[in-house]
Amino acid sequence: MAVTLNVNGTAQEVDLPPEVPLLWALRDALNLTGTKFGCGVAACGACTVHIDGEAVFACQVPIGEVWGDITTIEGLGTPDALHRLQQAWIDHQVAQCGYCQSGQIMQAAALLAATPNPTDDQIDAAMSGNLCRCGTYPRIRAAIKSAAGEA
Ligand code: FES
Ligand code: FES
Repeated sequence: MAVTLNVNGTAQEVDLPPEVPLLWALRDALNLTGTKFGCGVAACGACTVHIDGEAVFACQVPIGEVWGDITTIEGLGTPDALHRLQQAWIDHQVAQCGYCQSGQIMQAAALLAATPNPTDDQIDAAMSGNLCRCGTYPRIRAAIKSAAGEA
């Protein structure tokens, strides 16, 4: 059974059952591998994408229940026009292994869209579901604050 997903501005049909998690449709059917699999049980945030601008864990959303337009890390900016958070991530050299970082950036982008100048507490609350085994949290916070300053 085919399901149509609007991903990064393009409607795409995936020939998968509606109960398949969005994460696997993105990675395996649409080859958008910037969104990562970490746990599959809503415990890490590596799979964070946006649906209608809201940060969601793609491992937890069946494709048959997607309620809006999907944005993945591949659609957040372009090589010629990075999202301000992507530039801040580079400026602050946030990534270590990098595995969690697309999810971190997508979560942070939803935060700044809703709260343009977040406090440290608001940053910590918004980012608390996105884990980083490399411990880049101080640089993540610094990058978010710097991107917020440019808003
Ligand atoms: S893979 Fe989705 S929250 Fe960990
Ligand atoms: S940079 Fe390695 S898990 Fe976050």
